[in-house]
Amino acid sequence: MEKLVITGGKMLHGTIKISGAKNAAVAIIPAVILSDGVCVLENIPDIEDVNIIDEILCKMGASVKHIDKTSLEIDPAGIKKPVADYDLVRHMRASSYLMGALLGKYLRADVALPGGCDFGVRPVDQHLKGFGILGAAHTIENDTIKVRADKLVGNHIYLDVVSVGATVNIMLAAVKAEGRTTIENAAKEPHIVDLANFLNSMGADVRGAGTDVIKINGVKKLRGTTYSIIPDQIEAGTYMAAVCSAGGDVTIQNVIPKHLESITAKLREMGVTIEEFDDYVRVVSNGKLKRCNVTTMPHPGFPTDMQPQITALLAKANGTSIVNEAVWDYRFRYVTELQRMGADIVVDGSLAIVNGKESLTGVPVKATDLRAGAAMIVAALGAKGTTQIEDIRHIQRGYEDVVGKLSSVGADIKLIRTEDELK
Ligand code: UD1
Repeated sequence: MEKLVITGGKMLHGTIKISGAKNAAVAIIPAVILSDGVCVLENIPDIEDVNIIDEILCKMGASVKHIDKTSLEIDPAGIKKPVADYDLVRHMRASSYLMGALLGKYLRADVALPGGCDFGVRPVDQHLKGFGILGAAHTIENDTIKVRADKLVGNHIYLDVVSVGATVNIMLAAVKAEGRTTIENAAKEPHIVDLANFLNSMGADVRGAGTDVIKINGVKKLRGTTYSIIPDQIEAGTYMAAVCSAGGDVTIQNVIPKHLESITAKLREMGVTIEEFDDYVRVVSNGKLKRCNVTTMPHPGFPTDMQPQITALLAKANGTSIVNEAVWDYRFRYVTELQRMGADIVVDGSLAIVNGKESLTGVPVKATDLRAGAAMIVAALGAKGTTQIEDIRHIQRGYEDVVGKLSSVGADIKLIRTEDELK
């Protein structure tokens, strides 16, 4: 069983290069299905979620070649059956994007109910409502969603909740529909804009991505393209938090500082110095943090995917902080693990009341999901003693070479594969 072993108390110095965005990659790779040509995707992160989605495409008959560590060449021409592999799909939430892409291209899709991180109910009602308004009917049989349409016709779709997944899926289904689709109350995350830019580079006509109204004029054909995806906002935020926890002076390279604004603002409120440049930020911290309150919100608010990491920081900040998780019903499962490290946190519904302690202590903990795992790393880097993190497969789903990147700035972090190595 693999574990991460981290000994805290080492200040971090140097440069960390951020990889391509997971959440953009897992939307853009399925979007290639819509293409009538071959696509080359660059700046793809080397992570498990990308491997799974590649494997799903291969099993459907697409050709997926790794040109190098960060570039993929995908030819969807060989896809004969728009049915996604059940077992693979169950591993990740974003596999639901296969529904929109397959429906948009073949007017039908069979995709298992998606898996992924468990933080409460993860409904897809808005995705299915959107497909319905475009003219597709769905049934759910044996845990599999089957969507069918004779044709897709553009229409007005108002999302009842701001949903990244529903916005992506409707964009994918609408891009080749007849006429104009308008998505109102759309999500505005950077990866929505990235997906729109990718689709447009194939010849689609998508306008307004990044605002809450997206207009899509359907086109008949989409050509192959070469496209480089954006840097990962959450990976960057996680390493910024790592520096705040351990203390140090680190340049985080290959970022779009605008995408980090809400994270930067909160870390500054906590007393951290952050300098912004064109494509990098410099984070300077002495490891001593001030309390603050945080509420998660859809973009441009503070991202829910940074909530566990900032809570890990607040656990050793000076004073009491309140964290309000306003996106997911239950995203505090990891708090028990922080409590094992000595954190004083009380969870009450969507609120976590965090009474900062002078320091946390390294103990064995689990990565209960992807960002929970990131929070354990952040906490461990600033804790006294050694933390062992189990269930790191969650972390590997979304972080490329976390050990290499943190070791390169002086962290004491090791990947241990066997019980013998641990002894
Ligand atoms: C995406 C991100 C995930 C992030 C989340 C919120 C990817 C692959 N995943 O997940 O990392 O935590 O955005 O920023 O990009 N909802 C409904 N009905 C629906 C869909 C969603 O009620 O049909 C609700 C959800 O329960 C949740 C909220 O909307 O409360 C946001 O969900 P959504 O934005 O769809 O999250 P995901 O796309 O699954």
